[in-house]
Amino acid sequence: MKTSQRGAIPSFIVMDVMKAAAEHEAAGEGVLHMEVGQPSTAAPKGVVAAAKQALDDDVLGYTLATGIVPLRQRIARHYMEFYGIEVPSQRICVTTGSSAGFLLAFLAAFDPGDKVAILRPGYPCYRNILSALDIEAVEVPVGPESRFQPTLEMLDAAGGSRLDGLLIASPANPTGSMLREDELRQMIAYCQDKQIRYISDEIYHGITYGEQAATAAAVDDNAVVINSFSKYYSMTGWRLGWMVLPEDMLRPVERLAQNLFISAPSLAQHAAIAAFDCTEELDGNVVRYARNRELLLRELPKAGLDQLAPADGAFYIYADVRKFTNDALAFCAQMLAQTGIAATPGNDFDPVDGAAFVRFSFAGSTEDMAEACRRLNGWLR
Ligand SMILES: Cc1ncc(COP(=O)(O)O)c(C=O)c1O
Repeated sequence: MKTSQRGAIPSFIVMDVMKAAAEHEAAGEGVLHMEVGQPSTAAPKGVVAAAKQALDDDVLGYTLATGIVPLRQRIARHYMEFYGIEVPSQRICVTTGSSAGFLLAFLAAFDPGDKVAILRPGYPCYRNILSALDIEAVEVPVGPESRFQPTLEMLDAAGGSRLDGLLIASPANPTGSMLREDELRQMIAYCQDKQIRYISDEIYHGITYGEQAATAAAVDDNAVVINSFSKYYSMTGWRLGWMVLPEDMLRPVERLAQNLFISAPSLAQHAAIAAFDCTEELDGNVVRYARNRELLLRELPKAGLDQLAPADGAFYIYADVRKFTNDALAFCAQMLAQTGIAATPGNDFDPVDGAAFVRFSFAGSTEDMAEACRRLNGWLR
């Protein structure tokens, strides 16, 4: 029988690596997890307590498609507390992780055949979701020359006013690179001028090692901002995210969300309200990421991995491994088999040049990072 072309999108390779690592563990071999971009910590204690309370007190049925009002209001307050800007709670839509946010935003903003610029290397699901929706992902190659972020000349070269959308993550996955606020403003002004819908993936906000990340919500009411409880809030499996939407996308997104998801998980929504009051615990996680980052930036070059992307934010080191291999897939498989370190081949993030890169996630424990550095050093030398 027929299966669709849409389902023929590439796999999310990191999930395949995760599967291989699980098989390794099932065979009784320890694995140092540097493949998946997820905190090794549980949700903050306040969230867990709120979830227990909600289990006792609440029916936990479907919610409004755009999310429960108290959570939307708490997210709106977060914009005032964290960025100092007013965002009406009516413009906030709660989603099943930012993953659902992308699907909803792409469906509401673009038609089949439209062109949306994304960065290469970049988060693979942008390209794969766009492709499943018959929207053309126009890849903008970025590298160390521009700190893995685009310039206006690069956007011109990618089609300029022929583009319908531009999606940028800052901090970015897999490179950790960030747009400075003036650069963000420049990107958005370019898009305003050419009627290009700007989509800002702000999932790694809160996890930065120098300047705080700037939000597109402070710059342009026509930009779509996508965020999540997965990273800073340490709640990957709770499957909860949110969007700040432009007025003209509110009702379209609501209609799509009603039909596609009915609502985001109710328990997670009730519990997540507490997440914004768990800053001390969550900032403690960021202190650990910062320690891990310093350790890797110091130790990886000793193992011969000395071409590393900036890692201004998020919890990744994107390492150029061409000195060792031109086949990162095989390199990572071998590394897992011989050292027990799981990491993600660059092929996931960059179908053209990614075979010469590996992404190491440093969201795990500092002990694991130190042990991984020791093993890598022995293995690569
Ligand atoms: C840049 C980026 N955006 C979005 C996501 C999706 O996260 P979630 O659906 O858990 O919010 C990820 C996950 O790794 C990511 O790295």
